[in-house]
Amino acid sequence: MIIDLKEKSGLGLRFDTNKPEMSFEKDLPVRMPAIRTIEQMQEVLLDKTISQPKELYYMFRDIYRISDKSILEKYKLRFDVTAIKPACLGKEFMKTAGHYHPESFPELYEVVCGRCFCLMQRPNPGDHLVIQEVIIVEAIAGQKIVIPPGFGHILINPGPDYLITSNWVSSCFASRYELYQKAEGAAYFVTTAENEPQVSPYLKIGLGIRKNLKFRQVANINFMRPVKQIKKFGLIEDIPMYNIINQQPEVLDFLNRPLNYDYRDVFI
Ligand SMILES: [Fe+2]
Repeated sequence: MIIDLKEKSGLGLRFDTNKPEMSFEKDLPVRMPAIRTIEQMQEVLLDKTISQPKELYYMFRDIYRISDKSILEKYKLRFDVTAIKPACLGKEFMKTAGHYHPESFPELYEVVCGRCFCLMQRPNPGDHLVIQEVIIVEAIAGQKIVIPPGFGHILINPGPDYLITSNWVSSCFASRYELYQKAEGAAYFVTTAENEPQVSPYLKIGLGIRKNLKFRQVANINFMRPVKQIKKFGLIEDIPMYNIINQQPEVLDFLNRPLNYDYRDVFI
């Protein structure tokens, strides 16, 4: 199946789910994906014995319209697209490996297609095995997810379709994966519905939740959803956030100067 991402992402991208492969219109540089394999993910899985599927998700980093390159450089920003397979990892829903950012850098995601649980966790600054706050944001295509400073994050695809996200992030740092590896995953594992199934409050998806016992202390999960409009960050539901770079790039300043901004109103 070919998924045309142009309308939802704002860029001339088409994703072929069969190969899988991304095609780029002429005004974009061609990017090969970084592919996350099951071997690379083994340590963060609930069931470490599973070996299928071999490839889990595809990260297309540093995408831009060639005419926008200088604006991205000026504002120190990077735009990425990630395509996450619709499949399960044993009982777990498909997910990304998880990482923190150094120095409180935030991030901005948009769901381009599919459905998303974004599981964020804020650790005690002195002890990464004590998690003070856990949020799962449930989002669908067109919705934006702000990762506030200090939160590690994974994306979960509860299916049944490919989850394709885009993200704006500062170009000034590299993500840190090691704390998720040491803890063998996020604070919780989100699974398909088990013996005592729950239903997610907003998307009404049947699921199971298991605490990751590697953590010493973990806050309860707060389920949230994105707000429709965040004026200060230039975000409007269903309007591709790539366009911000052409219209008002200064509103993305928070991605490089996070502590000048308030993040309490980015979810409801
Ligand atoms: Fe990130």
